[in-house]
Amino acid sequence: MKVLVIGGGGREHAIVQSLAKSDRIEKMYCAPGNAGIAEYAECVSIGVMEFEKLISFAKEKSIDYAVVAPDDPLAAGLVDEFEKAGIRAFGPRANAAIIEGSKAFSKDLMKKYNIPTAAYENFDDPEAALEYLKTAKMPIVLKADGLALGKGVLICNTREEAIDGVKEIMQDKKFGNAGNRMVIEEFMTGREVSVLSFVDGKTIRIMTSAQDHKRAGDGDTGLNTGGMGTFSPSPFFTKEIEDRCMKEIFVPTVEALRSEGREFKGVIFFGLMLTEDGPKVLEYNARFGDPETQVVLPRMKNDLLEVMEACTDGTLDKIELEFEDNAAVCVVLASDGYPVKYEKGFEIKGLDAFKGKDDYFCFHAGSKFADGKIVTNGGRVLGVTAKGSDLKEARKKAYEATEWVSFDNKYMRHDIGKAIDEA
Ligand code: AMP
Ligand code: GLY
Repeated sequence: MKVLVIGGGGREHAIVQSLAKSDRIEKMYCAPGNAGIAEYAECVSIGVMEFEKLISFAKEKSIDYAVVAPDDPLAAGLVDEFEKAGIRAFGPRANAAIIEGSKAFSKDLMKKYNIPTAAYENFDDPEAALEYLKTAKMPIVLKADGLALGKGVLICNTREEAIDGVKEIMQDKKFGNAGNRMVIEEFMTGREVSVLSFVDGKTIRIMTSAQDHKRAGDGDTGLNTGGMGTFSPSPFFTKEIEDRCMKEIFVPTVEALRSEGREFKGVIFFGLMLTEDGPKVLEYNARFGDPETQVVLPRMKNDLLEVMEACTDGTLDKIELEFEDNAAVCVVLASDGYPVKYEKGFEIKGLDAFKGKDDYFCFHAGSKFADGKIVTNGGRVLGVTAKGSDLKEARKKAYEATEWVSFDNKYMRHDIGKAIDEA
């Protein structure tokens, strides 16, 4: 089979590396890919939103299966376009990817089908939002409706902050058109867990759990980022909680989408908060998480291609997912200054140290070739993952491995998974 993967970050590197284990794949391409992905797939410099170019490339190379990983092309209907061109593709169509593309839509869906989530109101009009804030309880959470690189969420402790937040989102358009509508919701407290799942329209299979660290600095300080590190599994996502989520959240979500005529095929990523009143949905994503994937897929025993095809073909009920009985930790090596302003183009040294070591992975998030060298090419540069018998061991190994690679302005958090092994 010839496979084309769309995307070019650490998540896609983890996907491509897993797919490469399948002996049914004779050739893999990745658009645009990166210097790490190039080890497994031929990288083609076509952007993820260049739909026409992607389709004609896929036709020209007789691609059998396309895997669309990032949120923007999914929300904009790239899977629909591949299907129209007669090419099978992994991922939800636009009408289902809307669970990530519109927070207002997903909140209304959860309300309609009694799926537990924070109480909320949607607003199209900033004046109405400001009026609502006059009597709302603080702290409160403001969310831009559309896609905003994971940054469109403001947690406001005071009424003044919330008023400024409405201005930023709806009037100053800090997140662009994503802020044409807005959700204002109740602030919840509890442990956060990310659960990725495969869905074939009717059957859902849960992957092992994970937890992300979104803030830039140690101790969860500083700005929100795309994710500075992850660990898997989450010790808080017990079998009992999983069973409850299955009944109250996972299955009802798949059925709700089906009832709405928006059959979902692909990955649903449930961002959950384990509150005193039980698990509640913080957000849905219509794709693999980044960097959750970098700790989840290395632990998966199944053939990823087979599971993806089962989602596309509606035969996921025939598949049981299996995960190794161990743990993984991923530490993101970023460019100092991320997520605001940073320099790139620095040579990355030491990558060979990962070769031939089964428990260690160096996923490239932002890298490229320049003059025969591999150089930094983004805010998040590498995701260093290690597996161990438990979280403590995985964490120790991952941090050791972060020392094997170097580049100017290398920055990382030092406490990924730390609160957990001390809990
Ligand atoms: P989201 O993109 O919706 O997952 O939000 C990003 C982050 O904001 C989440 O990972 C939470 O840490 C936080 N957050 C979002 N919604 C709430 C809420 N209702 N209560 C407390 N924290 C929240
Ligand atoms: N790590 C969070 C996300 O992928 O949205």
